[in-house]
Amino acid sequence: MKPKKDLLSLYDLKKEELEEFLTRALELKKKQKKGELYHPLKGKTLGMIFEKPSTRTRVSFEVGMFQLGGLALYMRWIDTQLGRGESVADTARTLSRYMDGIMIRTFSQATIEEFARNATVPVINGLTDLCHPCQILADILTIREKRKSLKGLKVAYIGDGNNIAHSWIHAALRLQFDLTVACPKTHSPAASVLEMAQREAVSKITLLHDPFEAVKDAHVISTDTWVSMGQEKEYRERIKAFQNFQVNTRLVEAAARDVIVMHCLPAHRGEEITDEVMDGEHSAIFDQAENRLHIQKAILELLMS
Ligand code: CP
Ligand code: NVA
Repeated sequence: MKPKKDLLSLYDLKKEELEEFLTRALELKKKQKKGELYHPLKGKTLGMIFEKPSTRTRVSFEVGMFQLGGLALYMRWIDTQLGRGESVADTARTLSRYMDGIMIRTFSQATIEEFARNATVPVINGLTDLCHPCQILADILTIREKRKSLKGLKVAYIGDGNNIAHSWIHAALRLQFDLTVACPKTHSPAASVLEMAQREAVSKITLLHDPFEAVKDAHVISTDTWVSMGQEKEYRERIKAFQNFQVNTRLVEAAARDVIVMHCLPAHRGEEITDEVMDGEHSAIFDQAENRLHIQKAILELLMS
């Protein structure tokens, strides 16, 4: 029997595995658009545990499992015995007896790693404080659809050095494109992730603190909320720290003429991004959201069938 395969971070994947997810996602998207029924996961069940809220991740995984012929079961962390202190390891052992795969959204990366070590079925990261691999795979799929390849492109991530920034960096360790991250000095990506970027990147990764310098010649501008889930108490301090990092028309005009603007959503219009940019001609934001479904179907199929 083949050992089970998890998707805990893009860092853990080989380039070939990333490519396989992206290629399969396009094939599955085509099938879906043609209305072709395709049920490789018939009879299989995905458990979905959420320690934080979600719109896209929950719905796209649930709909994806349905479209692949399987069943998805939504569990709020707090409503399971995890909420009363049952251990992560015992929960992983138990759920592995019922399910064929488990998707988790949690705070600490260590939690999902512990879960995966104790589960005998594939475990998929639906966002942690460290990274959001499914999101960045969907974003890369979106860029490929619009620009054929990432090679030779410059991606500028503007804003918080958070889970989204980390997954962009992880992606640039494996795939070839130029990545510039621009954030306030006080909110840079984690030192451990920056160190990886220096040690083993196949791409050019640059950290800057000036968003205008970062978007110069950029083909893609990506941003995210200034206040991630769990950071609500820091709201005032963060809004102040990120004032110069808004993705607005002036910033978009400083990038390449045909720049694509991305945001993983949920957006805080008027904070990290303006209405004008979100709803403007450069925005690929809702295509990104749609591609969560297609890339996750590829992930589910490749890990669970
Ligand atoms: N982008 C994303 O993961 O959205 P949700 O928080 O709605 O799942
Ligand atoms: N950085 C955000 C991403 C939401 C999808 C958060 O963690 O809340």
